Amino acid sequence: MLAAPDHRFVLSNLGRYTDVLRLRGGRSLTVRFLELRDAEALLDYFRSLSQRSRYSRLMGAASELPPSELDKALHVGEGNRFAVVAEMKVDGVDTLVGEARYSFDAQSGESEFGLSIGDTWQGQGVGAALLANIECRAAALGARMLFGETLRNNEQMIGLARKSGYMFGRAPDDWRLTRFDKALHAAADIPCESWRQAARAGWPLHEDAPAH
Ligand SMILES: CC(C)(COP(=O)(O)OP(=O)(O)OC[C@H]1O[C@@H](n2cnc3c(N)ncnc32)[C@H](O)[C@@H]1OP(=O)(O)O)[C@@H](O)C(=O)NCCC(=O)NCCS
Repeated sequence: MLAAPDHRFVLSNLGRYTDVLRLRGGRSLTVRFLELRDAEALLDYFRSLSQRSRYSRLMGAASELPPSELDKALHVGEGNRFAVVAEMKVDGVDTLVGEARYSFDAQSGESEFGLSIGDTWQGQGVGAALLANIECRAAALGARMLFGETLRNNEQMIGLARKSGYMFGRAPDDWRLTRFDKALHAAADIPCESWRQAARAGWPLHEDAPAH
């Protein structure tokens, strides 16, 4: 017998879940779900990353985003996996400056994420803003815990996680990695559209996180 579909993750009109964030310095950052029309831009974005950034993000040597990863990213919501892009206006043109993916395990209540910011845009608060948005999006799915894993020598990601209030521990499956996690009840006072939509749809948001 087929399992009943989980209607929480059947996302129609992906554009509804768009957030416009204000960066320090006043610039706007738009975070939205990845759509089919973004495939080329996302591939170009990964190609344009420095070798080091790409290695850190993909945790291995690759000259571009592997097709299987692109395919997964484009199927937003399937298998409880989600992908977003972060855009800024550059000379009047919407430009992809970062991306993130997160997944949700309803059984454990945990959400895992990975993200990257284009080299030109690193060190300007974009990563911190995107991560805060992912925290809200994950909380909107009902996640109580958000975690990530990164290479032990990835000072940027470790610095970002530390600054964002994550706790560090050993990654269980790979000695090269460190794991960091954060309880989301301490994190979800950042409004995001996913949270509002989830509240409206009556999804069981966990009690610790404040409603907006
Ligand atoms: C890790 C990454 C996402 C951080 O994004 P970012 O936009 O550069 O980070 P921010 O500018 O928002 O910095 C936020 C905080 O992170 C820390 N941080 C950023 N760069 C750092 C560095 N080079 N060394 C130490 N800490 C750093 C700081 O605490 C910083 O706060 P501050 O600006 O007030 O000092 C980005 O550098 C990146 O994409 N790296 C390559 C891909 C990658 O490593 N992804 C992680 C895989 S899970």
